Amino acid sequence: MTVEQILVGRDNFSYLIYCKETKQAALVDPGSNASKAMKCIGELNLDLKYVINTHHHHDHTGDNIRMKEAYDCKLIASHIDSEKIPEDIDITVADQEIIKIGNVQMIFIHTPGHTSGSICVVVDASYLLTGDTLFIGDCGRTDLPDGSNKQMFTTLQMLKELPDELIVYPGHDYGKKPFDTLVNQKKTNKTMLADSLDTFSAIP
Ligand SMILES: [Fe+2]
Repeated sequence: MTVEQILVGRDNFSYLIYCKETKQAALVDPGSNASKAMKCIGELNLDLKYVINTHHHHDHTGDNIRMKEAYDCKLIASHIDSEKIPEDIDITVADQEIIKIGNVQMIFIHTPGHTSGSICVVVDASYLLTGDTLFIGDCGRTDLPDGSNKQMFTTLQMLKELPDELIVYPGHDYGKKPFDTLVNQKKTNKTMLADSLDTFSAIP
């Protein structure tokens, strides 16, 4: 199993997950320009099965249609956010739902806060793809129309229960480094260190 982190535009990250044995692949958040991901798919001769949207914001979903037109792939999102994505979503995933690409297992976790239907993806118990839920050193903003401080706090408490060794792969390059271990984030990320909703809400 391999996960490629691909910088899109100024600071968005797409992730290409693929099974080395079967060449089956999934692209998480094509962003507004999937050209680099498409080049990678071509060079590696991958069979793109899924495009996954971590949430409905356009900077993550912009090239959905381009991917659908270029590959025989299905769009995946949560049921809640699928209603705000202009394209038809083929598969809506619920919390803890599992989808495999070849020998690679993806577990979808419902992580509301940035949007009400945000999802994170755990890949083969090794990687945690967090979209705009968790960044390196911060979390996603909660002041947009369907964001919620309270939901984000609860989500962060839940993410703290996940295994330390997971590598956090965020949806934006906002941190001091592009990825980190979850244990480091548990120890250093101010939004994960907040132990009450009041403390969390007081973070500037
Ligand atoms: Fe977002």
